[in-house]
Amino acid sequence: GRVVALVPAAGQGTRLGEGMPKAFVELRGRTLLQRAVAGLLDSGVVDEVVVIVPADRVGEVRADLPGGVSVVAGGAERTDSVRAGIAAAPDADLLLVHDAARALTPPALIARVVAELRAGREAVVPALPVTDTVKTVDLLGVVVATPERSELRAVQTPQGFDADLLRRAYAGSEEIATDDAGLVERVGATVRTIAGEPLAFKITTPLDLALARALTDPDTN
Ligand code: CTP
Ligand code: MG
Repeated sequence: GRVVALVPAAGQGTRLGEGMPKAFVELRGRTLLQRAVAGLLDSGVVDEVVVIVPADRVGEVRADLPGGVSVVAGGAERTDSVRAGIAAAPDADLLLVHDAARALTPPALIARVVAELRAGREAVVPALPVTDTVKTVDLLGVVVATPERSELRAVQTPQGFDADLLRRAYAGSEEIATDDAGLVERVGATVRTIAGEPLAFKITTPLDLALARALTDPDTN
């Protein structure tokens, strides 16, 4: 089966606050997008990569990434961007969706997700136990409930899917989801978790970027 990795990289990076779309922020001379794509290629389990970037960056990214990587324009919400990626991969048998913002993801994690799909799982997501206690609150910030922490997981990417299942999940919905598995759950599929990796953390805030810079600093590592 042909494995295509979709890399959503069309977000604005508002929370990071670097004044540019986050995927184009550099870590030791290489952008988050370049690092995420390199990790996918290094995993040895991905046949094709489709990156999804802001419409006004398509040309520059095409010139910049290795040949064989396709580049398409994203949309306003992450869901719109992934949808554009799905449309650009009609011959995929297995689809991975991997945030450009998870630039330091170990290639071995990518390989483990694909191995689970090849073993017959229809939807696979890396997940880690949460360390903070999580509360449900109302609009005024009053606590409504405290879910049992041991039952909660923080999920990462790459998330892997049988390609037809992911197509169906996106076709059946105009809804916005914060992850792809969320849409797949709604069509009744079974989503399996596997052990995630701390290094697959999403670079979202300035503190995350400081951590990523420290982790890629040749003087301290
Ligand atoms: N993404 C995308 N298209 C969007 C929004 C997000 O392709 N319209 C991508 C981002 O580029 C990122 C991944 O989805 O690689 C995860 O999203 P997030 O961490 O929220 O990134 P941003 O949306 O860029 O950040 P923010 O929400 O702080 O603006
Ligand atoms: Mg966002």
